[in-house]
Amino acid sequence: AAGGLIAVAFAGCGLVGPAPFSTVGEVDFDTPLAIPPLAESTIDADGTRVFTLDAQAGTTEFARGVASETWGFDGAYLGPTLVAARGERVRVDVRNSLDVPTTVHWHGMHLPAEMDGGPHQMIEPDATWSPEWEVDQQAATLWYHPHPHGETESHVARGLAGLFLVQDEQEAALPLPREYGVDDVPVIVQDSGFSADGRREDPQQGFAGRLGDELIVNGTRGPFLEVHDELVRLRLLNASTARAYAFGWSDGRPIELIATDGGLLEASVELDRVMLSPGERAEVLVRVAPGERVTLQSVMTPELAGMNPSIAASNGITDAFDVLEVRAADRLDPAPEVPEQLADVPPVDTDDIATTRTFTLDGFQINGDQMAMDRVDETVTVDTTERWIVENTSQMPHSFHVHDVQFRIASIDGSPPPPELAGWKDTIFARPETRYELVLRFEDYADPDTPYMYHCHLLWHEDQGMMGQFAVVEPGQQATLPNTEETSH
Ligand code: C2O
Ligand code: CU
Repeated sequence: AAGGLIAVAFAGCGLVGPAPFSTVGEVDFDTPLAIPPLAESTIDADGTRVFTLDAQAGTTEFARGVASETWGFDGAYLGPTLVAARGERVRVDVRNSLDVPTTVHWHGMHLPAEMDGGPHQMIEPDATWSPEWEVDQQAATLWYHPHPHGETESHVARGLAGLFLVQDEQEAALPLPREYGVDDVPVIVQDSGFSADGRREDPQQGFAGRLGDELIVNGTRGPFLEVHDELVRLRLLNASTARAYAFGWSDGRPIELIATDGGLLEASVELDRVMLSPGERAEVLVRVAPGERVTLQSVMTPELAGMNPSIAASNGITDAFDVLEVRAADRLDPAPEVPEQLADVPPVDTDDIATTRTFTLDGFQINGDQMAMDRVDETVTVDTTERWIVENTSQMPHSFHVHDVQFRIASIDGSPPPPELAGWKDTIFARPETRYELVLRFEDYADPDTPYMYHCHLLWHEDQGMMGQFAVVEPGQQATLPNTEETSH
């Protein structure tokens, strides 16, 4: 494992907890950042864009000459980046070449429940599942990963994850960096354990789940990214199973946030740090000067996590990591002027709320219940707007992810959200003893037979049952009990 412990006393709070873990200054950035390939696609006779993905086992050398057993899509670790435009019809032929059943969920995508890839859409070994839908949402950085009930953490930790980028005309009209892998770069952040010689190991189980003491980005240990443009867009995905990050720059320059889970913000926001709990994404811009080097770091503090310092430290929640070194070339292509206004993000509309529901997060339960595959917890009427109160009543952080829709945060503990949480979201970091008011619009895709999921995206918590199911139905319809035997053979 890289990095020793640095003793840091928590200033000003009177409590000195265990020293937070840190790798700052200890990472040799000696490996070029791997860039997941763009997925190839074909257009079939009716105009559908068709991708294929093959979930498979393989080996990955995180350290030269040392093979680790990993899983990936179309390769040994992670998966290719899918790109499709709003309005396009897409199909993905997902083959399962593993020897265990899995699923592939399109995290953040608005699509029919049958195509969602949740725990009811299992793919047996050697089977192919072919979901098909129309991309009907704004440009955004989405992702895909398995969702088999009780096994999500292990499937994602072994390497099954990839990006799905949605494009649209509004975003394409803006002078933003968008040359994939050059000035528009995926940054998939995961933590892992490694043996002394560099073999991937499962870290120990804690309350949050498995917290690895080393970071990998796009599967690369000690990554650096060489750039040739003054302005670079990084698409950050927290694909870790349990760890939350607070990303910032080593020299204190602000993080320039332009987009959250569901797409562009109204205007860019300058932040000291951008926080991402597992599953969340952020698009950020960084301006570099010729020849300079700057390091993306994550420094999570008890304040940011909203936690008592000693509880935070003893649960491995406070830590500091070197993530990725950005190296600017000596000659850089000039940056375009980024406009003030990026997108039209309408104010949150609470006038039209049809139903208010409450979701209490405590222990590994939501509203005192654990996930049951054959129980639909909530029934939502199609073409309505709902208010979901998500209340973390515990002393530990959780997260809350809703399938099917991008939602807005109307308030946090009764106050309007800060600008970085005022855009479109599908996953939120749920601080201890904090109440979030979400507004969600369920436009279409009524299907009484197939539920969507909502859950904590700390994947061990999800696997423990911190998940529930909701069905979207026509007015007056009842949700049917899900058929737990539905699988692709
Ligand atoms: Cu990213 Cu239900 O999951
Ligand atoms: Cu949780």
